[in-house]
Amino acid sequence: MSARLDWIGRPAQGPLLDDARVPGDKSISHRAMMLAAIAEGTTRVHGFLEGEDTRATAAIMQQLGVRIETPAAGERIVYGAGLTGLQGSASPLDCGNAGTGMRLLTGLLAGQSFDSTLTGDASLSRRPMQRVTVPLGDMGADITTRDGGLPPLRIRGGRPLHGIEYHPPMASAQVKSALLLAGLYAEGETVIREVHPTRDYTERMLEALGWPIRYEPGYACLRGGAWLHGGEVAVPGDFSSAAFPMLAALVVPGSRLLLRGVGLNPRRTGLLDVLRAMGADIRVRQPRNEAGEAVADLEVHHAPLHGIDVPTERVSDMIDEFPVLFVAAACAQGVTRVRGAAELRVKESDRIAAMSRGLRTLGVHVEETDDGADITGRPQAGFLGGDIDSHGDHRIAMSFAIAAARANAPVRIRDCAAVDTSYPGFLEQAVRWGLDLQVAGGSV
Ligand code: S3P
Repeated sequence: MSARLDWIGRPAQGPLLDDARVPGDKSISHRAMMLAAIAEGTTRVHGFLEGEDTRATAAIMQQLGVRIETPAAGERIVYGAGLTGLQGSASPLDCGNAGTGMRLLTGLLAGQSFDSTLTGDASLSRRPMQRVTVPLGDMGADITTRDGGLPPLRIRGGRPLHGIEYHPPMASAQVKSALLLAGLYAEGETVIREVHPTRDYTERMLEALGWPIRYEPGYACLRGGAWLHGGEVAVPGDFSSAAFPMLAALVVPGSRLLLRGVGLNPRRTGLLDVLRAMGADIRVRQPRNEAGEAVADLEVHHAPLHGIDVPTERVSDMIDEFPVLFVAAACAQGVTRVRGAAELRVKESDRIAAMSRGLRTLGVHVEETDDGADITGRPQAGFLGGDIDSHGDHRIAMSFAIAAARANAPVRIRDCAAVDTSYPGFLEQAVRWGLDLQVAGGSV
C-alpha cells in the first residue's frame, strides 16, 4: 500500500446525477485466480477487480509457478497448472491487506506437497487466523502461527488430509471456503453446515469448473480427488462497492445515480432490503443472469430515511456493508439498532469502534454494544465537520467520504490509501458523481 493519504470532503453543493459502473467483485476475483490456477487448461476472467487485494492473490499464484497474462485492465488469462501443478516458493507469499486471500490460500496450500509462508500488512497481521488453522488442523494440516493465532502462517506441505464435517462457530464464507479448498486434496468427504448461510461463490465456481459438489444455503459437501477444467469467468460489479454510490445518492437531496452491472447474489444484498425498510428508493432495472450470477442495474434516488432494528438474521448477508449502514442510520430519523454483528470487530479494523468514534466526531449520538450499536440520526441538522481516522480501513474511509457530503463544514478523513485494495479510482468516480472530495494538500 502507498504512503499515508488523507482526504478532505466538503458538503455537496447540489444533487448527484450520474451513470456509473463499479469495479469487479472482490470475492469472485480472488476465487477466480485460485481456482483457475489449479484447473487444467486455460481460464479467461473478465471484469477482474484491479484492486490491491486481488492483484496480490494473482501475484501469489504467479509466484507459485502459474502463468497469468493481462491482455487488458480487468482481463486475465490464467494457464492452469492442474490440481498438483503448483510449485513451492522459498520466499513468503504476501497477501497484503486481504483476509480473503490469506484465509482461502491457507486452505489451498494445506493440501500441497511443498511448504509455504503467508504474510500480510499491519492490519492483516492483527486478524485472527485460528478460525481456519484449527479446523484445517483437524483435517490433518500442519500450520503454525504467531502467538495468538496471528499471521504469518507457516504451512507444512506433504501432509495427508482427510475430510471432516464442520459447523463453523461464526458466519464466515472465508472459513467455509478454506475448508472446501483443502477438501479438494482430502481423502473422503468435507461437509460444512452453517447456522447463517454465507456467500456461496466458492461452491458456484467449483461447480462451474467441473468439480462435483452439493450445496444449498447453509450446506456444502464435496469429496477430494476430482479435477477442475478451465473456462470463462465473468465477474459482476461488486455489490459492496456499489453500496457507496448508493448511500451517496440516498443522502444527498435531489440525487439520482444509475449503477450498472451490479452483482445481486442474495447472500450479498442484505443492505438493499434493510435500506428499503428504512425508506430508500432503490429500483432494480434489467435484472439478468450473467454466467450464473444475478446481475442488474440499480437506480437510486434520494429519499428520507427512518431508523429500524436491523434483523439479526440478515447480518451475514450485509457483513461488509455496516460502515455504509451506520452512515445511512446517522442520516435517518430516529434510532437504528444493530445487534449480532460482533464479527465487525475483527474486520480490516474494529468497524463498530471506528464507525462509532467517527460518527460521534460528526455530532451523531451512538451507543456501542459488544455486537452492535444504537445510532440516533440527525437528518435535519446535518453533520459537524471534523477529523476522522479511517484506521487504514477502505470501507471506513469511503463511508466517511460520503458522510462529508451531509456535513456543515469540511471533514478530514485520515489514512485513505487502503481504498485501492477494493475500489481503485473511487475518489475520481466520486467527484464525477458530484461529491466534493479532494486529496488533502492537493486536488483531483
Ligand atoms: C469474504 C467473506 C467475508 C467478507 C469478506 C469477503 C469472502 O468475510 O467480510 O470481505 O470473499 O469469502 P468473513 O468470512 O470473515 O465473514
